[in-house]
Amino acid sequence: MGRGDDLSDRYPDERGWVNARIRQIRALPYKPTPMLELELPTRLRGSRLLVKNESVHPSGSHKHRLAEALYLNALANGWLVHDSPVVEASSGSTAISEAWFSKLLGIKFVAVVPSGTTAEKKKAILELGGEIVEATGATISERAEQEARDRHGHFMDQFTYAERAYDWRGDHGMAGEILHESDPDWFVMGAGTGGTAASLARHARYTGHRVRVCVTDPENSAFFPGWRDNDRTVTATGSRIEGIGRPKVEPSFLFPLVNRMIRVPDPVSIATMRVAKERLGVAPGGSTGTGLYGALKILRELHRRHETGTVVTVLCDSGERYLDTYYSDAWLEQQGIDFRPWVDTVERFFETGHWTPPRSWRKPPTPRGLMWNM
Ligand SMILES: Cc1ncc(COP(=O)(O)O)c(C=O)c1O
Repeated sequence: MGRGDDLSDRYPDERGWVNARIRQIRALPYKPTPMLELELPTRLRGSRLLVKNESVHPSGSHKHRLAEALYLNALANGWLVHDSPVVEASSGSTAISEAWFSKLLGIKFVAVVPSGTTAEKKKAILELGGEIVEATGATISERAEQEARDRHGHFMDQFTYAERAYDWRGDHGMAGEILHESDPDWFVMGAGTGGTAASLARHARYTGHRVRVCVTDPENSAFFPGWRDNDRTVTATGSRIEGIGRPKVEPSFLFPLVNRMIRVPDPVSIATMRVAKERLGVAPGGSTGTGLYGALKILRELHRRHETGTVVTVLCDSGERYLDTYYSDAWLEQQGIDFRPWVDTVERFFETGHWTPPRSWRKPPTPRGLMWNM
């Protein structure tokens, strides 16, 4: 055997660097996030509506958990090396959380965000030391991959790795907290990567819980038709509800783990978000409205069947990130999102348990006429 046959010690200095960063992450304090409860009308007595408040994480959303998981995954896999940047494709929340971890770990961070991402989100990324590259919505992943190649960095790729980076077996995570605290009948949430829904569904199976998973999808997302037709090649024009709904079916969105999908019109998401702000005393973002609408629909159905149940949804991030968009009447008008008539519908439901869609409501035409049963 000649000298050239032994190629050991390619990265002699990296282990110390990696170990130190993993130690830093593992030393972070772990504190379960609060579970809020929305009061239901007496008509629905016996049912519960719980909202996991993920906006309290240091980087402001449930993506704090994803960023931690993605960094641990990338470090343990040997994908991150000293002095090379991390690049991510994100509509904002994941980028903010990854920028937070990058700052903690002393790693340069580049966020590729869709043009149109709110100024508040971009500001948060910049304040955490991140760099921003804007690209058109459907191409952010390709652009991020390219940026990572050009900069000799690592493309974190949340849309591929979210479902496998989360530790779905352990109790340390949103799934463990929710299932052990409340043992719900339904978990309802929108999908961006689909990683949160997948990890909760897996943890439920692993720990023997009964919970079923409902994904609420905004207008113009590929997830709903993809799941309905069991077709991963479906494309769509792209969602207006930041963080959820995608122009294509992302790899982390796993069909067999989703029990039900509900398509939610954007005005209904916004109205539900606005009502939730008053009733929770905390302003949520738009994706929380989408999930909460699905939770209300399931509660109505339970009542109709003379059943009761516990439904959990997630307050993904704070409304402060959307003051110029979902909380701006002028912006909503510009977008043609006529949410006002639905505010009364949602309000009345919380007061009386009765659901009366606005008189002006016309079901949008949908293929097969499915699922606009409001
Ligand atoms: C604000 C917001 N809500 C909900 C989601 C959906 O979470 P997940 O990526 O786990 O599907 C995201 C993800 O991008 C998000 O940014």
